[in-house]
Amino acid sequence: MKAGPFTRALSYFPAVRKRWLKGMLCIIPTSSLEFVLPLIVAHVVDGVRDGTMHTTGVIGWMVAAMGITLVKGAGKFGMRWYITGASREFERNYRQDYFHHLMQLTPRDVAQLRTGDLMSRSIADVEAVRMMLGPGLMYVSQAAIVVPSALVIMAIIDPTLTLVMLIPFIGLATIIRVVAGPTQHWSEATQERIAELSVVAQENFSGVRVVKAFATEGVSASIFRRMGRSLLEANMRLATIRGVSSAAITAIKDFGALIILLVGGWHVVQGILSVGDLLLFFMILNLALWPLIAIGWMIGMYHRAKAGARRLDEVFDLTPSVQQSEMPVQHDAFRGELEARHLSFSWDELPTIQDITFKVPPGGTLGITGRTGCGKTTLVQLLARLVDPPPGTVFVDGHDIRDLPLDQLREHVGVVPQDTFLFSETVAQNIAFAGEHIDVDRVREVAELAKVHDDIMGFKNGYDELLGERGVTLSGGQRQRTAIARGLAADPPVIILDDCLSAVDSVTEQAILRTLRETLAGRTAVIVSHRVSALSLADEVLVMDEGRIVERGTHDNLVQRGGLYASLAERQRLEAEIEAL
Ligand SMILES: Nc1ncnc2c1ncn2[C@@H]1O[C@H](COP(=O)(O)OP(=O)(O)OP(=O)(O)O)[C@@H](O)[C@H]1O
Ligand SMILES: [Mg+2]
Repeated sequence: MKAGPFTRALSYFPAVRKRWLKGMLCIIPTSSLEFVLPLIVAHVVDGVRDGTMHTTGVIGWMVAAMGITLVKGAGKFGMRWYITGASREFERNYRQDYFHHLMQLTPRDVAQLRTGDLMSRSIADVEAVRMMLGPGLMYVSQAAIVVPSALVIMAIIDPTLTLVMLIPFIGLATIIRVVAGPTQHWSEATQERIAELSVVAQENFSGVRVVKAFATEGVSASIFRRMGRSLLEANMRLATIRGVSSAAITAIKDFGALIILLVGGWHVVQGILSVGDLLLFFMILNLALWPLIAIGWMIGMYHRAKAGARRLDEVFDLTPSVQQSEMPVQHDAFRGELEARHLSFSWDELPTIQDITFKVPPGGTLGITGRTGCGKTTLVQLLARLVDPPPGTVFVDGHDIRDLPLDQLREHVGVVPQDTFLFSETVAQNIAFAGEHIDVDRVREVAELAKVHDDIMGFKNGYDELLGERGVTLSGGQRQRTAIARGLAADPPVIILDDCLSAVDSVTEQAILRTLRETLAGRTAVIVSHRVSALSLADEVLVMDEGRIVERGTHDNLVQRGGLYASLAERQRLEAEIEAL
């Protein structure tokens, strides 16, 4: 079967089908009872007029009318309660799946989509689909019952008047048709412009430091102003269309009333129509016009929902580039041996990593260094399978990492990335991010290891200090050390530190790494650093250049050899001396 625009959305439907159907069932009595009150009024008016009904009769009908109103109210409540509830649950499942799917994608998979855009899809687009499947279908079903019943009742009472009444009905349908196109166009335009605006707002808020540093607040403000203006324009167009159409609809309603008065009044004089039935016509006109208008809304809703579902499908159709193998190898006792065999990788046509081979025994320490852009971070991502390495190139304990269950791999190979990200939570929550099993004592222990404990004690609330969005209240070095503490807290058998101490001075970096090495005896460590001084404790150091290993050996060995490593060491020594002056 070919996938339609709502194929995915409808797959969330069976879960809420029962509730939704109950709501739909409520529509039948509610909508049919709409006609009972006008019928009673007409009956009473005629009865009183020709003297066949007296006080008791009137009171009886009044009580009946009240009962019916109560039943109708209960039905309306049930209808909204069930249908809105079903649509909200549908929305939650849809959005949860979207989030779940996003979580499986790697940054590389969503590289072409912006954060603000992904957010607006998860909010506005899911809502658009919900509106159609919930309230939208509810109104249409109501209309489907009310409009034909109205026509039938009217035709029974006075066929001629009903025929004449078709004129305003057709007029109304025409208006709805005419405005549907422009309404759809401009409501899609507002949808898009809101999404654009949220992208710009989100990027400017996140990048506020850059904006301030370059003093480009003016430029940002003017971009924002321009987008605001274009959103305003789209909204104004929409308001104009809605204003004109609602004025036209009111005019048509009044025109319909005039027709009833004219033709109906004439029929009353001729004795074809009773006064009560004339009244009934007025009331039915009111009843039947609104569902017709709702169909107009529904057309707009449908198009918005279709666009929304399509935008959501674009994200759902992205397949995670890193996927668990279909037959993962269960591997329980991780020793922590890490190996790369002739590992090559390229982001695009040019190779980024070329023919890397090494083996770190359990408990060993591998150092990696090299100029900026030589491929260190890329290598780290491959070793931790944050990016898929080619089959048969990266092994943990002799197992190809592509064959290991993903959650197990993530649990056992920890990475502290180069660009730290902290959540807007407390310091303690950030450090204990890896799981609930990490308790207060452990948090403190790893904070001490990462030499961030003293900094934290200096905060007003200590470990309960709330970090601003992305930890803006911390210095770069504090942030990095907090991130290291987070990496250590989970205590993985293999830990990879990707130049994550670049913002602290070289002496502190060395001190941190030294204590780490001592406490992590038995743990395998890969330490990436652009500072050679940090690598003196590694069992083996790989020096990379343009994606290749150009030198390898121990720190002392490499310094003596007088190659790239030695020249980096010499330059960094001089820099340190100058700094110390
Ligand atoms: N996600 C990516 N998509 C495409 N190209 C990338 C991506 N990440 C890195 N590259 C490219 O790969 C090359 C190596 O980058 P990488 O980040 O691995 O270098 P690095 O050695 O970690 O540098 P640094 O010392 O500055 O951290 C660079 O030319 C970079 O442009
Ligand atoms: Mg890097």
